[in-house]
Amino acid sequence: MKLFDVYPLFDINIVKGKGCHVWDSKGTEYLDLYGGHAVISIGHAHPHYAEMISRQVATLGFYSNSVVNTLQRQLAERLGKACGYDDYALFLINSGAEANENALKLASFYNGRTRIVSFAKAFHGRTSLAVEVTDNPKIIAPVNAGGHVTYLPLNDIEAMRHELAKGDVCAVIIEGIQGVGGIHLPTTPFLQAIRKACTEQNTVLVLDEIQSGYGRSGKFFAHQYSDIRPDLITVAKGIANGFPMGGVLISPMFTPVYGQLGTTFGGNHLACAAALAVLDVIEQESLIENAADVGSYLMAELNQLSRIKEVRGRGLMIGVEFEEPIGALRNRLLYEQHVFTGAGGSHVLRLLPPLSLTREEADSFLEKLKSVLSSSRGSY
Ligand SMILES: Cc1ncc(COP(=O)(O)O)c(C=O)c1O
Repeated sequence: MKLFDVYPLFDINIVKGKGCHVWDSKGTEYLDLYGGHAVISIGHAHPHYAEMISRQVATLGFYSNSVVNTLQRQLAERLGKACGYDDYALFLINSGAEANENALKLASFYNGRTRIVSFAKAFHGRTSLAVEVTDNPKIIAPVNAGGHVTYLPLNDIEAMRHELAKGDVCAVIIEGIQGVGGIHLPTTPFLQAIRKACTEQNTVLVLDEIQSGYGRSGKFFAHQYSDIRPDLITVAKGIANGFPMGGVLISPMFTPVYGQLGTTFGGNHLACAAALAVLDVIEQESLIENAADVGSYLMAELNQLSRIKEVRGRGLMIGVEFEEPIGALRNRLLYEQHVFTGAGGSHVLRLLPPLSLTREEADSFLEKLKSVLSSSRGSY
């Protein structure tokens, strides 16, 4: 059997990682400014993480959600304290799409409605409702085009108010910072206006913090820059540093009903051990403060470079927009300078390194980027 060929691959076989670096099978070392797509929060192969997972799998890797799982309870308590949502409840699943799927389902159970508001350039995952609220017709299969979603322009307060005033919107779903769409930030007045309109209309506010959460923005959640409290918050990616896990943080206004939500693998013992190790390291190594500090430094330095149209982002979630398409630039960074970066659309370089990135590593990236920019003209 061969693999179903849906990924345009770089021909590089990564076999080892440590901190913000990875190595390929030929022994070449790469600086990781991509974090495996914003997944690596505490750095590759962190010793505490490796030890917690190894110990757990040697004791009990999995048992079903039909029995008490004290690791899940510990995780809920630790996460509630770490992010400032002590009074919320936690539902655990295995991925970001599943987190959004369950959040939207909860919203619809709550108010009985079926219409959802999402925003231009949004990305929320690839399963049924998660993909329907994603603003990319190419990945919405006919069976997923259920007609539930109205897409509005980001940061257009009047358009949002007008839509919600119809009184039949089940949920508004919005990313803390748009990632796949090219690092676009919802403004504080916009988020506050959504919060107000949702409360007035009994519409559920879902904050997708799957990419922008878990410290990446320099606060635990990106929406905490805007001083709002959503009704549901979805997390995944950095929650377990690469071990598949997602979560929905659920406000006390929702009442749990036996059997309404459920999953086989979600919140299993091994995943919880990985997630607890992540919280340990985030706290012990002050990684959120580090993301804020190194992120502002990196953005300030990037702003000094020529040929860059705009630098956007917060913490270590940074978009660098160029006048020209960035495909060739990314390839040169990877194959000549040995740096992994991401893309957010055709013109935006997306930087999503581990939250442990040091200033020295940021400087090393800047040197490599300058070297590519100065040795090319036009199309890099
Ligand atoms: C904001 C956002 N939401 C949801 C998802 C989907 O997560 P997953 O791929 O784990 O299903 C992603 C993945 O890139 C994302 O960036």
